[in-house]
Amino acid sequence: MSGMPATARQSVVAAPCFDLRGVQVHLGPASRLQALTDIFLRIEEGERVALVGANGSGKSTLLRTLHGLQRPSAGELHSPAHQRVAMLFQRPHMLRMSARRNIQLGLWLRGVPARQTRALAAQALERVEMGHLAERNARALSGGQQQRLALARAWALRPAVWLLDEPTASLDPHAKREVEALIAEFTAAGQRDVDGQPTGRPTTLVFSSHNLGQVKRLASRVVYLEQGRLLADLPVNDFFNHDLLRSLCPQAHLFVQGESL
Ligand SMILES: Nc1ncnc2c1ncn2[C@@H]1O[C@H](COP(=O)(O)OP(=O)(O)OP(=O)(O)O)[C@@H](O)[C@H]1O
Ligand SMILES: [Mg+2]
Repeated sequence: MSGMPATARQSVVAAPCFDLRGVQVHLGPASRLQALTDIFLRIEEGERVALVGANGSGKSTLLRTLHGLQRPSAGELHSPAHQRVAMLFQRPHMLRMSARRNIQLGLWLRGVPARQTRALAAQALERVEMGHLAERNARALSGGQQQRLALARAWALRPAVWLLDEPTASLDPHAKREVEALIAEFTAAGQRDVDGQPTGRPTTLVFSSHNLGQVKRLASRVVYLEQGRLLADLPVNDFFNHDLLRSLCPQAHLFVQGESL
């Protein structure tokens, strides 16, 4: 077993969304830092996967790799070819323009005709209860408002896959609950086409979080990383079963104990 990640997953037949085989990622000057080592990870359409691990364990790097922003230095990566993928970063990137125009620009960059973007942006702002802030400079919004705006900008694109990097990390408890509820709603609703019509296919969610309560609420599966290695990959109930986790992956068990203190 040594060197193998703890896993209790049944093999299921479903559409693969991501498939990583032996992925390595190197970063920094002369690519000297190995941020991810030998990652094997297959994510099916409709799964809700949480990435957990200490600071610097590789969660953001893995999300960036799934999104295609970071190229593996070795190994194979298969990602959804014709699906809309939305990524939210640890700190939202907002342009110095109104909230509405930030969403419009996001839509236009993805090929939505300019004349349609205004109504879609207004609808997205209403969806996150920010209609009254539409004309405010996005950079002047609070952290929680910016994160809601980032969700609205993503939702406007009707993504089939959501990649969220610590989406509630810098928010106060009230904003945290609000943003988490939006994530739950958006990702449970199933895929929609650009006209908002359901396609009958489930949405896929991959997110990182230091909030284990949030992991329990949002995830169906938990992936534990340590120093760039995937050490455990378990259904959420198994991950939070102390005795099982202690026997399957002592390192992850220690991490959960530390985070729960
Ligand atoms: N642009 C970069 N250049 C060099 N090293 C980097 C870069 N980005 C990340 N790293 C390093 O890669 C490793 C993994 O970082 P990563 O940001 O993926 O961790 P993380 O799990 O997201 O941490 P956190 O919980 O703090 O967000 C760390 O050692 C980090 O210092
Ligand atoms: Mg990170």
